[in-house]
Amino acid sequence: MIIAIDGPAASGKGTIARYLAQVYGLHHLDTGLLYRAVGKAMLDSGYPLDDTARAIEAAVTLDPKKFDDNALKLQAITEAASVVAAIPQVRQALVDYQREFAGRPPGAVLDGRDIGTVIAPDADVKLFVLASPEVLFARRFMELRARGEPADEREVLADLLRRDERDSHRSAAPLKAAPDAHLLDTTHLGIDAAFRAAVDIIEAVRAGRSRR
Ligand code: CDP
Repeated sequence: MIIAIDGPAASGKGTIARYLAQVYGLHHLDTGLLYRAVGKAMLDSGYPLDDTARAIEAAVTLDPKKFDDNALKLQAITEAASVVAAIPQVRQALVDYQREFAGRPPGAVLDGRDIGTVIAPDADVKLFVLASPEVLFARRFMELRARGEPADEREVLADLLRRDERDSHRSAAPLKAAPDAHLLDTTHLGIDAAFRAAVDIIEAVRAGRSRR
């Protein structure tokens, strides 16, 4: 079984993806980490983010086994991740790894921006997780606080708006729901209710399939 989960920053897609992977005994890949790793490689090496050739090289030589997830999650990397993620050849260089991961038995949950549209268009279930801008902002702010990262309200808001604008309007694999994705609006849902809603959708899809 392959479950594709897409949505904007701070929608809760990562938490839902981890939960579903546990419930269904599947592998989980947070695909944002791949773009974050390319962004971090650029920042570390001091090359400007618009040096497309260097960004592509960083993507091609990426080794996901060596990822330090905590370091990649830092707010300082998010902007760089979204800039390099708009480069079509960077995305292309990361496709094979994601598809190979999705094909690992017994299946996988992948979360990102283009899983249902580009990486796994034949996924068994596709979720598009969203929430109101106010809720997205509040969640990201709390998340940074909980991790002990100094967070300035205006900067957090500006980052979310800028990234979602860039992610939604880029020409390569923009953030959008696949036509056959199930929308999961978590604006009024706490995390447990969001988990239940996600499982309900998956069970409904599976029940529909076994009736056929
Ligand atoms: O956790 P958050 O949603 O803030 O970020 P993320 O999922 O780690 O993604 C960071 C950036 O990577 C996003 O702003 C996107 O530009 C990019 N990304 C992408 O383009 N495609 C994906 N499948 C995953 C992330």
